[in-house]
Amino acid sequence: MCGIFGYTGSAEAADLLIEGLSKLEYRGYDSAGISVLNGDIHTLKSAGNIAKLRERRSSVDVSGTSGIAHTRWATHGEPNETNSHPHHSNSNRYSLVHNGIIENYLEMKKDLIDKGFDFKSDTDTEVLVNYIEHLANETGKQPADLMPEILRDVKGSFAIALMDTKNPGVLIAARKGSPLIIGLDGNEQYLSSDPLALAQHCDSAIYLENRHYAVIAPGKKPAVYNERGLEIVAEVAVIDQMKDQITVDKGDFSHYTLKEIYEQPDIARQHVAESFQNHHILPELTHLKKELVAAKRLVVIGCGTSLHAGWMGRNYIERLAGIPVVVEQASEFRYGEPLLFENDIVIAVSQSGETADTMEGVRLVSSIRDLPVIGLCNVKGSTLYREASACLMLNAGPEIGVASTKAFMSQVLMFFRLAMHLADLKGYNAHEGLLDDFKKLPNLIEKTLKFNEATHEIAEKYKDSENMLFLGRGIQFPIAMEGALKVKELSYIHAEGYSSAEMKHGPLALIDEKFPTVVVATDSEQEGKNINTVKEISSRKGKVIALVQESSTRLANEADDYLMVPDIHDMLAPFLATIPLQLLSFHFAVLRGHNVDQPRNLAKSVTVE
Ligand code: F6R
Repeated sequence: MCGIFGYTGSAEAADLLIEGLSKLEYRGYDSAGISVLNGDIHTLKSAGNIAKLRERRSSVDVSGTSGIAHTRWATHGEPNETNSHPHHSNSNRYSLVHNGIIENYLEMKKDLIDKGFDFKSDTDTEVLVNYIEHLANETGKQPADLMPEILRDVKGSFAIALMDTKNPGVLIAARKGSPLIIGLDGNEQYLSSDPLALAQHCDSAIYLENRHYAVIAPGKKPAVYNERGLEIVAEVAVIDQMKDQITVDKGDFSHYTLKEIYEQPDIARQHVAESFQNHHILPELTHLKKELVAAKRLVVIGCGTSLHAGWMGRNYIERLAGIPVVVEQASEFRYGEPLLFENDIVIAVSQSGETADTMEGVRLVSSIRDLPVIGLCNVKGSTLYREASACLMLNAGPEIGVASTKAFMSQVLMFFRLAMHLADLKGYNAHEGLLDDFKKLPNLIEKTLKFNEATHEIAEKYKDSENMLFLGRGIQFPIAMEGALKVKELSYIHAEGYSSAEMKHGPLALIDEKFPTVVVATDSEQEGKNINTVKEISSRKGKVIALVQESSTRLANEADDYLMVPDIHDMLAPFLATIPLQLLSFHFAVLRGHNVDQPRNLAKSVTVE
């Protein structure tokens, strides 16, 4: 999703700004631009990627030591150069970059047109920068002093960075919903939507709180204000520990996504080692022990892949700890009228910790009842990390591929550990053989990756499909859903995840020889039922790819093709089943010539609803 970067100091800003934007690329964008102040504001913009912006850098004079920059993920208007940020005000006094959506921009625009302003772009951002100009002219106030009014009257969720020709070197940053961070490096200061882009420059940072704004200038301590305009003492966080995570390169891999798929054995190794070291207790939850012991129900919210991880969590928590779990799409939860009771605990799952719907769900909880909210999150310092009562860090390292792979693995591992923690509090013993196999899991994930070539062959065979179904039952169902989502987003093949038993209630009508189905059938207890599913489809001429444990030869023989994972306890098989489905999606995408790491139309961090 859109990314903001800003710099003010004594170095040439343009290179730093373009470099900063390149660190934000992974979030997803379709155009980019920078504004640098040097007497006037000089702006360079380009539709397409940052390489294009870099190419054009020498054709425009963008020298100067302070500036703002932006990667845009189009919401209002096409992804062309005119609509890309930064946007100037009519008099060219101000330049603005903006993340998020301004909901009342049409009323504002109409008012401004009536007052004589004109607009070149279709964006809500150009409306805001002119609104600021209008307010400043009308009231005679400095732009920073207008921020309380902007935060109050401008509807929606946004973060902005503003540059003013009359205040050289000064950048104004404001946050209402979307994240924004001030990076500190001696006399130099930065702005960024994402700590990843700051870590190479800064040791410390101020995470702007919701509805706060700040004024930064070289050599001065940032001045941070609350929504009423009162200066506050902002907490300075150390970002040093992130530096070792910042190796944002592909190593020997062709794509970030592939690299991240191959990082999964090590992620599992870390979870398994920590789990055994701590006797399957999560120390981060110590202060919530009383609430966890009393918990009558868990309510899990998340979006996309994180939602699927939540469904896996439900399976583990209900089966191992006997606590009922409901799982809801955060987007539905936040607009519903959720019934929340005493002794409920809410779990918010989000790789980025910034997803707008998930965060609004978290805020809705606190407006209804004072319940503990446990976050499962991969980004230290993110909004979820800071707003949750406790945060279980996924420690998967930065996930650059837009499609989530290793974070999903880590989320499900964390849910499994949470289930064991809760089982311990309830005095339940782990299922026989489960812990032994949990110990073996990292090596078995590694072994599963060795079947990559077989997955590639299947991808070759089915790459021209227009549609696919992914079926699973019980604990395999969320994996089927996740498999379908991965195939959709990476290969653009229309794919649906479905519960195997639901086939007869409608989707079976879709099946013909051109409509392949992947049956996730790694639960050996369910072998008979899974064979029936395969037969139902085969007898309608549908092609079936069965995803099975190595010893399930009967099932494999029933299908047209099979993908295999090593034998493991049925409850742990979903971890292994995840791998061939990720690889299948990856190979489809490569074979079909798509941008694997940045699929079209998608963004990594969905900070608008
Ligand atoms: C799919 C994917 C998305 C995210 C979803 C939630 O591969 O990446 O579906 O899972 O946008 O994002 P987070 O986990 O950051 O809240």
